[in-house]
Order: sequence, then structure tokens, then C-alpha cells
Amino acid sequence: MNEITPRVARMRWIHAQDMAGILAIERESFRVPWARDHFRQFLSRREGIGQVLLAETGGPLAFMLYEISAEQYHLVSLAVAEVHRRQGLGRKMMAHLARQCTLHKSRRSIRVEVPERNLPSQLFFQAAGFQAVEVLRDHYQDPDEDAFRFVWHADQPRIPPRSQSEQGS
Ligand SMILES: CC(C)(COP(=O)(O)OP(=O)(O)OC[C@H]1O[C@@H](n2cnc3c(N)ncnc32)[C@H](O)[C@@H]1OP(=O)(O)O)[C@@H](O)C(=O)NCCC(=O)NCCS
Repeated sequence: MNEITPRVARMRWIHAQDMAGILAIERESFRVPWARDHFRQFLSRREGIGQVLLAETGGPLAFMLYEISAEQYHLVSLAVAEVHRRQGLGRKMMAHLARQCTLHKSRRSIRVEVPERNLPSQLFFQAAGFQAVEVLRDHYQDPDEDAFRFVWHADQPRIPPRSQSEQGS
């Protein structure tokens, strides 16, 4: 089903050179994918942060976009390359964000909205320790679709590692 688990080199902020790989992941992940300009606009804002997970060979395996406010991280997008799903990469990215929460004095939670019909993603966030807290009616348009809001708090139990072997990577 999936390719062999890639060797992850590192996570860092998104650079212009990552965009071709990120746009390819975006297109295979979302029904209405963002174009390069959407990313540019988002990342040009002070509160807009983008991080990419790179393979040892250099290419993007996954990325996430989030907004920071005084009290919260708002996860706007998280996507893993289709061939590398179910290998713990999404969990690795969430663990990274969760770690930032636990280290921050006031920014202690992560919020994300997930389409009602995106069950895999809902299961992912549940597995990562998020709780569904609210239904947002008609959150998306064309076609209209509700969303579930999920929240993770630093003061609740940590995101569990997938396996012993992954802990060291
Ligand atoms: C949601 C997404 C980011 C998950 O990334 P991933 O790297 O495949 O997830 P992980 O391998 O870290 O999975 C961690 C756990 O989440 C749950 N999970 C993840 N994908 C799942 C799926 N398709 N079905 C059921 N459970 C799933 C499982 O409990 C999994 O643990 P396990 O593999 O040991 O059973 C990925 O499927 C994706 O990019 N989807 C398209 C974009 C999207 O919908 N993004 C989320 C909204 S912004």
C-alpha cells in the first residue's frame, strides 16, 4: 500500500525551494487545493507559520500551516504525501506542535477544524489526543459542509509515540 518508511531528516520552516513538493502534496490531499499564491499570502502574515518535514534525500514528505495567537495555535492545514501515510509522520508533526504548547507559558492549546466527511482525519486527531468540542454548521461552502472543531490542551495527557523505534527518530 505505502512506500517503505522514508528516513526523515528534519523539520524546519518552509522555504521557497520546498514549494513544488508542497503543492504536489496539497493537490493530492485536498478537494479544493491552495495555489502557490494562497501559501505566499498566508506565510507573509506575521502570525502565519509553515513547517515542512523533509526526507533525508531532501524532498518534502509532509507540511503543516498554523496561526499563532496569544493563547492558541490554530492548525490551518496538515498534509502527508499520500504514499507516506500511516507511517507516523502526521503524528510526528503533531507531537512537534504539542511540544511547543507544553513549553509555552500562555499558548497552551491547538485548535483545528475538520470537514464532517473527512473521517480519516477525525480519527487521526482523536488518536493524537484531540477532543471534538463543537459542530460548526455550514463551515465550508460549495458544497456546504459542517465541520468538527477539535482541540488539544497541553494540560491533558501527551500525544503518545507510535512505537519504541519511532521515539528515537
Ligand atoms: C490526516 C493525515 C495528516 C494523517 O497523517 P498520517 O501520517 O497518515 O497519520 P499517522 O500515520 O501519524 O497516524 C497516526 C494515527 O492516526 C490514526 N489514523 C491516521 N490515518 C487514519 C486513517 N486513514 N484511518 C483511520 N485512522 C487513521 C491511526 O490511529 C494512526 O495510528 P496507526 O497507524 O498506528 O493506527 C493524512 O491522512 C493526510 O495528509 N490526509 C489528507 C489531508 C487532511 O485531511 N489533513 C487533515 C486536515 S487539515
